[in-house]
Amino acid sequence: MYRASYRATWLSALFLPSVQLVTAFAVGAIVWYGGYQSTIGGLSVGGIQAFISYITFMMWPIQDLARVFAEMQHAIASAERIFSLTDSVPDVLDRPNSYDPGTIRGKITFENVSFSYDDDQPVLENFSLEIQPGEMIALVGPTGGGKSTIVNLLCRFYEPKEGHILIDGIDYTQFTLHSIHSRIGVVLQTPHLFSGSIRENIRYGKLDALDLDVENAAHLAGAHEFIMHLDKGYDEPVGEGGNLLSTGQKQLISLARAILAQPEIFIMDEATSSVDTLTEAYLQKGMEALLEGRTSFVIAHRLSTIKRADRILVVENGRIAEMGTHNELLRLGGKYYRLYTRQFRYQMHAAYDPFHKADPPASEPEAA
Ligand SMILES: Nc1ncnc2c1ncn2[C@@H]1O[C@H](COP(=O)(O)OP(=O)(O)OP(=O)(O)O)[C@@H](O)[C@H]1O
Ligand SMILES: [Mg+2]
Repeated sequence: MYRASYRATWLSALFLPSVQLVTAFAVGAIVWYGGYQSTIGGLSVGGIQAFISYITFMMWPIQDLARVFAEMQHAIASAERIFSLTDSVPDVLDRPNSYDPGTIRGKITFENVSFSYDDDQPVLENFSLEIQPGEMIALVGPTGGGKSTIVNLLCRFYEPKEGHILIDGIDYTQFTLHSIHSRIGVVLQTPHLFSGSIRENIRYGKLDALDLDVENAAHLAGAHEFIMHLDKGYDEPVGEGGNLLSTGQKQLISLARAILAQPEIFIMDEATSSVDTLTEAYLQKGMEALLEGRTSFVIAHRLSTIKRADRILVVENGRIAEMGTHNELLRLGGKYYRLYTRQFRYQMHAAYDPFHKADPPASEPEAA
């Protein structure tokens, strides 16, 4: 971009002045030669004047051409940038002979999966896990532990470097990307909204949904309340990238969008981290009905959200450090126990101390 802009600016700085310079020299030459001719009687002064006017008239369109050419150079520089984006090839592509599996039951198997974003720093190593259809799995653990990486792999935004991920017992690279993406509902850590109204943004989950379905989804997500407080309700514009809404509001809308899509597998990565506890409690009721019978992954730093998960995985340095239900892990008295009791203590403090932060820092402290 820098090189292209530099070239464009350089060319436009060259063209216009050189055309003007040529014009000035031409007029200078006419005056010099015409002046001499008028002294010897070959040309009248009026004739010279007329000739200069004609020459200037002729130069205008040429100067315009130079200006257009300079602008074109700028446009080409911008177009190069746009084309480099539209021509970029995704890392993950459909394999030849890939197919759409039809309905998915939701059994997921990670088989010795190893993965790294850059080749030198492994994020997951030999990760294995089997999830039964309808199970709710919660992932907790310190920041940078690899929780988002696990769901990124499952969504096939990336593919394992080694090992396999199976859906219903079949390696998912045999399926088309579209068939996987359309069956997995994801609410990400950083939700993305498109400029448009709230209604349009929720409907993006299922393009042919009726208005009533959109509003039901918003109810389930706990978003209806705040939407009704906006001037235009569901028709309120969200701004570029949703910048007219708060992060919590964006999270609720992207949740409603996923609910509307009725996916077979549901993933929430810190989906409710910026929502207040009251809205969250309300939302959880709706979520319970939705998650019933669906395979789901929930990542949360706020542990109250995931107590009812069938299995809780403590993920640390790309490995499963602990696994079990909430009660089992508390009884174990290990990392989860420390995370949980610490958060609980924090909340108790918060109840008495108005200056206390509501949520503890994300990372787990060393055992006291
Ligand atoms: N796009 C990326 N490119 C390169 N490295 C990445 C990328 N995303 C994550 N990583 C690295 O992978 C490791 C695991 O990150 P991951 O996002 O899975 O952590 P996490 O458990 O989700 O953390 P958090 O609780 O903060 O969301 C980190 O060390 C991080 O630096
Ligand atoms: Mg994450």
